Amino acid sequence: MGRLDKKICIITGASSGIGATTARLFAQEGAKVALTDIKVEFGEQVSNDIGSSAKFFPHDVSMENDWQRVMQGVLSEYGRLDVLVNNAGILVSGTIESSTVDDFHRANSVMVDGVFLGCKYAIAEMKNTGGGSIINLSSIAAEIGQPHFLPYSAAKGAVRTISKSVAVHCQMHKYNIRCNSVLPGAIQTPMFDEVKNASRKYLPPELLKPSPAGRADPSAIANMILYLASDESSFVNGAEMVVDNALSIQ
Ligand SMILES: NC(=O)c1ccc[n+]([C@@H]2O[C@H](COP(=O)([O-])OP(=O)(O)OC[C@H]3O[C@@H](n4cnc5c(N)ncnc54)[C@H](O)[C@@H]3O)[C@@H](O)[C@H]2O)c1
Repeated sequence: MGRLDKKICIITGASSGIGATTARLFAQEGAKVALTDIKVEFGEQVSNDIGSSAKFFPHDVSMENDWQRVMQGVLSEYGRLDVLVNNAGILVSGTIESSTVDDFHRANSVMVDGVFLGCKYAIAEMKNTGGGSIINLSSIAAEIGQPHFLPYSAAKGAVRTISKSVAVHCQMHKYNIRCNSVLPGAIQTPMFDEVKNASRKYLPPELLKPSPAGRADPSAIANMILYLASDESSFVNGAEMVVDNALSIQ
């Protein structure tokens, strides 16, 4: 018996990194997984590798009509939704002085509008079918001052607070829908390579030394997402799960 047996799950940003690893893990644990992403070719490849328990949907999370189409597709394929992982994200670097308003809006459109829309459309379905679990990917960039990634960290801060508001809303309405955020530290994915490259632009060499906290494989985050998606975490709601090997508290 898998930890997600028969659960119907959507994972956004599932063509790469943490999303792709989570999709594989969910399928191993008995879930039916709808993978979504703007990177269609990679997403279809991950979905084909997983096999019959996965299906890929092209999806720009910043677009409301894309959410409507994906939700309809998932419901017509599987009949219900139990778990949503709002994982899609982009790195937008820049300080308060160098960032443009377009940079700021670009970060927000994917990571704030995307999470807002995902929660909204998931709740509309889950509340009619006995509940569910929503997991939103924030970042330790939402906890600490990140002068060189201002648009990104601002968006990730909003993800934390959206998650808590959704958790309390659903608890007050007795929807049996939990909503938690995950705050990863340094995880070895294509986005982390972008962080390293952007840091080289802003920081002097002496500040570019690898952190003693190291960096983890995406499975470190996928395992936390699995716990939050499963019924093992049934009393965990509105929590912020920091997974960073103590990086953010040093
Ligand atoms: N890697 C890290 O160190 C780290 C740390 C903290 C938080 N995170 C967060 O974890 C999540 C996953 O990141 P990752 O490291 O796996 O990055 P990644 O770049 O490997 O994957 C992100 C995925 O999101 C997709 N995406 C981007 N814009 C999209 C859009 N508009 N609609 C749909 N999909 C879109 C990309 O195509 C990509 O497949 C992100 O939200 C990221 O901010 C990552």
